[in-house]
Amino acid sequence: MKMLHIPKIGMGTFGSDHISANVMASSVKEALAIGYRMIDCARVYDNEREIGEVLAASKIKRSDLWLTGKVWNDMHGKANVIRSAELSMKDLQTDYLDLFLVHWPFPNHHPPFAHVDERNPNAVPYIHKQFMDTWSGMEELQRKGMVRHIGVSNMTEAKLRLLLGDCSIRPFAAELELHPTFAQKELRAYMKAEGIIPIGYSPLGSPNRPERDRTDEDVVDMEHPIVVELARKHGVHPASICLKWASGNGIIPIPLSTKVKNLRSNFESVHSDPLTEEELTMLEAVDSNNRLIKGQVFLWEGATSWRDLWDEDGTITGGQS
Ligand SMILES: NC(=O)c1ccc[n+]([C@@H]2O[C@H](COP(=O)([O-])OP(=O)(O)OC[C@H]3O[C@@H](n4cnc5c(N)ncnc54)[C@H](OP(=O)(O)O)[C@@H]3O)[C@@H](O)[C@H]2O)c1
Repeated sequence: MKMLHIPKIGMGTFGSDHISANVMASSVKEALAIGYRMIDCARVYDNEREIGEVLAASKIKRSDLWLTGKVWNDMHGKANVIRSAELSMKDLQTDYLDLFLVHWPFPNHHPPFAHVDERNPNAVPYIHKQFMDTWSGMEELQRKGMVRHIGVSNMTEAKLRLLLGDCSIRPFAAELELHPTFAQKELRAYMKAEGIIPIGYSPLGSPNRPERDRTDEDVVDMEHPIVVELARKHGVHPASICLKWASGNGIIPIPLSTKVKNLRSNFESVHSDPLTEEELTMLEAVDSNNRLIKGQVFLWEGATSWRDLWDEDGTITGGQS
């Protein structure tokens, strides 16, 4: 079995509640024509069927494509995870996924278009035993050859440590929010030491993210003076600097675009004119711990703030082993 190496860039397909499945699918078609070979899908994005039609109509060999899928929070637990992968594979018209991720480490979910203050009364903090049941489904998928690699998303170092201590198959990659103003340096260093590949979501600072993920304190990566200065120097859009920052730091970015011009320039950004070591060092000053996807809608009763989701003091808030 030929194993495809993970590409340097992927295309994001989360429409942030405002891009239709058909528009997303035609953007995937454009992206494939430009040269993208990695598509970041998820069950909850509700567009896998339309994307699957584009993939089926494409002349690209399946073995040259990297398809990532994710199990949503309402399908945790061993049997559900396997079912969820099967549904994604059916919709994407493929008999395997290259990478399958646990989208969030909580079984907490919310209806589409949820308001930031909405709470699911059944929401719970992280429960490691339950997560390991979900993970056993992921391992089963890899053992059966239905997925080639397994991984996680939205994890913290504290939760990864527990997982690495108890798993039979280690996570190959972890998807996490990463952009110059939110560099997550310590978590990335931990992942590097453990050999876990970082896939960076919202790599441009998610300028069109849903309202529920916006606060007055948020910083705009593409307007940061150092990012703008480097963009002028390289003769590119600030978006390119964000993506070159990712590549220069060993991160695989998965930007979303519905515009051919942006899709092309994003692709070129990671394949030409890399930033120098000096420029990467300059960009370290841009980091301001600017988390944009805070996850408020996943909070449980008794939680005090979105910070409880992210184990900032190194311990799992409200969690159980
Ligand atoms: N695992 C998770 O929990 C998780 C969470 C969030 C996101 N993700 C994944 O990560 C992907 C990307 O994140 P994201 O969509 O939040 O944010 P993003 O990629 O940082 O930003 C996307 C936005 O930037 C604009 N854009 C793209 N290229 C541009 C360019 N060259 N110049 C100027 N603007 C540009 C796009 O608008 P146009 O369409 O107008 O170009 C789009 O609205 C998602 O689609 C999803 O696949 C995963």
